[in-house]
Amino acid sequence: MNYKIALIPGDGIGPEVVQEAVQVLETIGEKYGHSFTFERVLMGGCAIDAVGKSYPDGTAEKCKACDAVLLGAVGGPKWGHATEPEKRPETALLSIRSDLGLYANLRPAALRPALADACPLKPEVVPNGIDLMMVRELTGGIYFGKRERYQTEDRGEEAADRMAYSEQEIERIGRRAFELARLRRGKVSSVDKANVLETSRLWRSVMHRLAQEYSDVTYEDVLVDNAAMQLVKDPGQFDVVVTENMFGDILSDEASMITGSIGLLPSASIGDTAPGLYEPIHGSAPDIAGKDLANPIATILSVAMMLRYSFQLPNEATAIEQAVDAVLAEGWRTADIAETGVTPIGTKEMGRRIREKLV
Ligand code: IPM
Ligand code: MG
Repeated sequence: MNYKIALIPGDGIGPEVVQEAVQVLETIGEKYGHSFTFERVLMGGCAIDAVGKSYPDGTAEKCKACDAVLLGAVGGPKWGHATEPEKRPETALLSIRSDLGLYANLRPAALRPALADACPLKPEVVPNGIDLMMVRELTGGIYFGKRERYQTEDRGEEAADRMAYSEQEIERIGRRAFELARLRRGKVSSVDKANVLETSRLWRSVMHRLAQEYSDVTYEDVLVDNAAMQLVKDPGQFDVVVTENMFGDILSDEASMITGSIGLLPSASIGDTAPGLYEPIHGSAPDIAGKDLANPIATILSVAMMLRYSFQLPNEATAIEQAVDAVLAEGWRTADIAETGVTPIGTKEMGRRIREKLV
């Protein structure tokens, strides 16, 4: 079987980590008899430099013609000051999510066995480890509501961002969460701010309706401030955490950090039909770009998610995850996860060692 993958290396460390992940796919292809072809797509700051906008015309169409999309990272200080939307790398990210209908963003945060020491929480806080799946709504809410900036008569300039959610948007992300929980430990924690926000009150009522339908799944409501606290107090209590776009953005960074490093965590963004998009949750890290310092593991694990969710190849996905764990168990570390006294290895060597475990 041949799979066509749109590659968006992007900016900063994006190209380096994507390169390692592509080689992992090629190794998987040789071993299991699949072929992968790659279509490079320009997006982000590099696209601003090349063609004057972060999301060149035809980007979505190119991606839609593929079976999945692999993205490195976009953005960097070089493009941080532009005010026109098309000159902002982040606009491209929001556009592609929206154009491909990628409403469900899955961000698994798991403490890898070999890295228990990298967890910044005390061992007694995580006696049973951390293994949660953050399910973030990705195409609605305040990220996509109307933005305004206007002069007032007496209070100077004012700005507003509208947050809106429809029942249909809430229901489809909710269903994803309940379905995932059935494949995991059977628990959904829905995070909202229903004591203040109307969108959250609607969110909660839709989730309660779904909870009745999925009565085999344990369900709880958690207010977002409490969720932020519980994540550092007792992260082991969470299985699937489902939440709206901005809460999910914030909580997923927190969830990633308690597992040791943001350099380890993959993500999948999926919709109902269009190709899924897979990317590490870390950013473009311009300070270490091009220095062979970046950790490629998050991108390599993103490719494992691609094999599992877009191509229904669970064995190949598990093989990659086990290869990563095996290399970590041998003590190999990139700089972001190296304990004191351990000499770190670079991006390329980490990628190569993971591939060696696959053959
Ligand atoms: C993320 C990032 C993006 C987001 C930014 C870069 C627009 O933080 O994927 O979490 O807020 O969604
Ligand atoms: Mg974020």
